[in-house]
Amino acid sequence: MTDLMQAIQPFPLRDGVLHAEGVALPDIAAAVGTPSYVYSSAALRSAARTFREALAPIRRKHLAFAVKANPNLAVLQLLAEEGYGADIVSGGELVHALAAGMPASGILYSGVGKTRRELVAALDAGIGQFNIELEEEGQMLAMLARARGVRATAVLRVNPDVDAGTHAKISTGRKQNKFGVAYGDAFAIYGRLAALDGLDLCGIAIHIGSQLADLAPLETAYRRTGALIAALRSAGHRIDRVDLGGGLGVAYRPGEPMPRAWAYGIMVDRVTRDWDVTLTFEPGRFIAAAAGVLLTEVVWIKPGAPDPHVIVDAAMNDLARPALYDAFHDFAAVEPSGARMVANIAGPVCESGDTFATGREIDRVKAGDLAVFRTVGAYGATMASTYNCRARIPEVLVDGDRFAVVADRITPEAMLRHQHLPEWTARPAVRRAA
Ligand code: LLP
Repeated sequence: MTDLMQAIQPFPLRDGVLHAEGVALPDIAAAVGTPSYVYSSAALRSAARTFREALAPIRRKHLAFAVKANPNLAVLQLLAEEGYGADIVSGGELVHALAAGMPASGILYSGVGKTRRELVAALDAGIGQFNIELEEEGQMLAMLARARGVRATAVLRVNPDVDAGTHAKISTGRKQNKFGVAYGDAFAIYGRLAALDGLDLCGIAIHIGSQLADLAPLETAYRRTGALIAALRSAGHRIDRVDLGGGLGVAYRPGEPMPRAWAYGIMVDRVTRDWDVTLTFEPGRFIAAAAGVLLTEVVWIKPGAPDPHVIVDAAMNDLARPALYDAFHDFAAVEPSGARMVANIAGPVCESGDTFATGREIDRVKAGDLAVFRTVGAYGATMASTYNCRARIPEVLVDGDRFAVVADRITPEAMLRHQHLPEWTARPAVRRAA
C-alpha cells in the first residue's frame, strides 16, 4: 500500500523552473508579488483522499478538518467538496467554516475557553457537536441550550495523560496541559453532565498533540479511551461517538520518516474495532501542510561569519513556525542552477529570531532570485501577523494551469484604516503639525 501523496508532485521542476501544478512560480510572483503563499488544489484533494482511504476500514466516521491549520475560505470550500466537516476552536472559525459552505451539522467545536457568546453563536448555527473541556462549560452549554428549547449534542474531552513525544508547545495530552478533564475525574464528570437536561452527552473526545512522529502515544491514548468507554457503558451511559482528534505528523525534511496514513488507519481499526461508535478525526497538518509553499524573493546576500546571510523578503511575521518552534522548512530556489551554498536564511524583521535557517546547505541564490519555503500549507498564513507594520501577505490557489488570488495582500495603508486617533489628541496634534 502506498499513500496517494507519493504519486503526486504538486510543486514540480519543469524546464528548470519550479511550478505549482501547471503554473510557473515566476508567473505568480509577477502577478501578485512576493512574499505570497501558494497552495495546490491537487495536493489538498490528494491528502484529503489519502486520509479518507486510510480510514476505509472504519465504517462509521466523520472527518473534520482542523480549521486552525488553514482557514482560507477557498481551502475550506475545497475540503467541504471532499466531504470534510470542520473542527473549530473559536467563533471566528465558525464564521469561516459556515462562509465556506460547510454544513453546520458537520462542524464540531473544541477549545478550553469558549465564551458564552461563542457558545450561543454555535448553538444558533446548529453545529453538530460540542467538545466540552470542563464541567462548568458543560453546565453553561446545557443552560443556554435549555433556554433555547434545544439539546446540545456534546462529547467530553478527556486528557489521557500521554506524552505525545512532540514539541512541548504543541503537546496537549499530558496532565499538566490545559486541555480536557483529568482522566481520573472523567467518569464522575461524565455522569453529572449526562444528567443535565439541555445536553445530549454521547461520547468522548481526545487530542494529545500535533506533529506526532510516532503512532505509539496515539495508540496508548486510544486504549485509555477504550477503557473509559467500557467503564462508562458498564455504568449505563450511552457512548455513540468518539472523537480521536488530529495530530498525524508530516515530513518537513526530505526523507524524514513519518507514520503513513494507512498505518494510522490500521492501528485505529485494530484498537477501536469493538467500540461500536462513530469515530471523528480532526486532521489539520496532514491535509494542508504539503499543499503550500511560501514564495519569496532574495533581497540581499549579506556577508556573515562564518556563513553569508540570505536575506529574503518573507519574515517571521509571515511564517512564524521557525521562530516559535525551531521548525525546519525546506528552502529551494525557483530556478536552481545546480550550485549549492551554505548560508543562514533570514527575513527583514528587526530581531535575530527572524531566522529561517542557520548554516544550512541550500541552492545557491543571489539577490533578485525567487525561492520557496516548503510545507507551509498548514499553520503558515493563519499564524501570520503584521509585526513591523508588514503587510498580511496574499494567498494564491492553483488548480491545474490556472490560479486565483484567494486572499488579498492587506497593505499597511489598509491596516491604517482600522486605526484611529483619539478625538482629544487628534485635532491638536494635527494643528501642531500644520
Ligand atoms: N484537534 C485539536 C483539538 C487540536 O488542538 C488540533 C491542533 C488539531 C485537531 C489538529 O492537529 P493536526 O492534525 O494539525 O496536528 N501551530 C502549531 C500546531 C498547533 C496545533 C494545535 N492543535 C504548529 O505550527 O506546529
